[in-house]
Amino acid sequence: MCPLTHCPKIHSSEPTVAVYPGTFDPITNGHLDIVERALNLFDRVIIAVAINVGKQPLFPLEERIRLIKECFGPDDDRVGVDATDGLIVDYAVSQRACAIVRGLRAVSDFDYEFQLALMNRKLAREVDTVFLMTGLRWIYISSSIIKDAAKHHGDISGLVPDHVRQALKKKYRTQTS
Ligand code: COA
Repeated sequence: MCPLTHCPKIHSSEPTVAVYPGTFDPITNGHLDIVERALNLFDRVIIAVAINVGKQPLFPLEERIRLIKECFGPDDDRVGVDATDGLIVDYAVSQRACAIVRGLRAVSDFDYEFQLALMNRKLAREVDTVFLMTGLRWIYISSSIIKDAAKHHGDISGLVPDHVRQALKKKYRTQTS
């Protein structure tokens, strides 16, 4: 007999939810590429902005959330944006998510992501981690490298949404004045 015969998930009609966690300081086109790919796989994707990541974000939490929300229209009810503190898996379970989505840009991302995924599985077996390959155009970008370029007046158009580019410009203008 097939071992999955009694698996309730086979007959489940519940929408599939995935959580995409990160610092998003700020959101980039690389992150949006992952969201788009995740929407091909799940009914709903919740972008979970981590409050405590041991980083010193340039943008306060509320601003990071606002910048993300502005990437989506008011009718994009398949995408949620939320703040989360504590363990990502606890948040995922609270949202009845079946997966945590993480983007992979290069082999160098893998060691850390592998460790994170195994720890998360140990903490909550029902939540799987799904790795999505970032589009080739975005493999070299990170929020830090974009901030660095913006700080030194480099051209970051095409790498972040336009409202994020404007927000970075304003941030560094006020920091230097
Ligand atoms: N496009 C662009 N940049 C990308 C990217 C993509 N597709 N994928 C990853 N990155 C970059 C991010 O911009 C970020 O760059 P930065 O370091 O310059 O800011 C970097 O990769 C990784 O950051 P991020 O994905 O935001 O992860 P993180 O390591 O900052 O945070 C959390 C990951 C949120 C899961 C984790 O740190 C956390 O807060 N966990 C809470 C506690 C927990 O559950 N821990 C795990 C189990 S103990």
